[in-house]
Amino acid sequence: MKLQTNQKQTTFTEVAALEERYQLATYKKMPIAAERGEGVWIYTSNGEKYLDLYGGHAVAGTGHSHPHVVAAIQAQAEKLLFYSNLVYSAARARAAEKLVSVAPQELTKAFFCNSGTEANENAMRMARMATGRQNVITFSGGFHGRTADSISATFLGNYRELGKPNVPGHIEAEFGNIESARALADENVAAIMLEPIQSMAGVRMAGSNYYQALREHCDERGIVLIYDEVQTGVGRTGDWFFAGSEAGAQVVPDIITLAKALGSGIPVGACLVTDKISGSIKENDLGTTFGGGMIAMAAVTATLETIENDGLLQNVRIVETYLRQRLAEVPGVAAVHGRGFLLGIEFRTPAGPIHKALLDRKIITGTSSNPHVLRLLPPLCLRSEDIDLFVAALLAVNAGS
Ligand SMILES: Cc1ncc(COP(=O)(O)O)c(C=O)c1O
Repeated sequence: MKLQTNQKQTTFTEVAALEERYQLATYKKMPIAAERGEGVWIYTSNGEKYLDLYGGHAVAGTGHSHPHVVAAIQAQAEKLLFYSNLVYSAARARAAEKLVSVAPQELTKAFFCNSGTEANENAMRMARMATGRQNVITFSGGFHGRTADSISATFLGNYRELGKPNVPGHIEAEFGNIESARALADENVAAIMLEPIQSMAGVRMAGSNYYQALREHCDERGIVLIYDEVQTGVGRTGDWFFAGSEAGAQVVPDIITLAKALGSGIPVGACLVTDKISGSIKENDLGTTFGGGMIAMAAVTATLETIENDGLLQNVRIVETYLRQRLAEVPGVAAVHGRGFLLGIEFRTPAGPIHKALLDRKIITGTSSNPHVLRLLPPLCLRSEDIDLFVAALLAVNAGS
């Protein structure tokens, strides 16, 4: 079968058949062919529209195809698609300056790469270089990516098994229990790395004193503290980053890693580091061909500008409060976990059928490794009226009861 490029509309059946024929089947897909997006909405090849509370896998922070981001990418594409870090670039200079300007002031330099797993690999490498030590402590329930070092740091489900043989020197601690990390953090440990809110594990967060205690412990032992903010960063929690936020007791790690929403859909990852870390990195210690490319950099700057211009951090806080109020009306909801627009709704019954029933009503949500938790990672521009649609659907399907 061949798709006609001049055809007005290609049906879902045709698209799905072709993709299944030619793409390796590594994801269980929803029965949707996404064709166009606008804000919190996805329009399909069958002319239907879906409310996207999953944000295109936590990527569409500024909403789908935000005009300011699209214009910036288009303008850059007409000038220069790419040149590597072997040359200076105004697009890269602006993106680095803007990103550092919204970060906690201790984080003074950016390293650009292409994805979350790559950001984490580089963060762990920097920690090893800065300390001269090998081991890395991560936490049960944390997810850090699928390349060798990151998957070896992932103690969630069977992901680690998929990465066999694992990189040596990875140690598992219990999330939220400071004694567990303390007991394992000896003189061979280079870094403690965590998702400050564990997303895939079902949106698990610790008390603010936990982050404080981890910071103090790292300082005492000369260990590098890394926050994997691939999901929590770039405005998702209603703050620019979990690092430095009130929920995290204003704790600032030595490195934060970013990806997902950073480029609004253009692949880009980053590590933000302190002077102490950057002081231990020399020319040629790290590198990537595509990291810091002009299109990605234009997308980063425009993404951060959009979050500012559209008041999206305030919007997240206001709409989160409204969502929590409205969810209190849904009898099947046992608890709501997380912060901002990284929320885990825990139901009294399994979340899988609820996810499916919502999809039938044209609302996209996410599941998690906790079978009772439905995950929401919507665009930061979600409004109260969208929440009303969601809650009405939950009530109509009798979710959790
Ligand atoms: C917290 C966290 N870290 C790292 C990653 C890996 O990011 P990427 O898929 O861009 O490699 C993910 C992806 O889901 C993630 O959620």
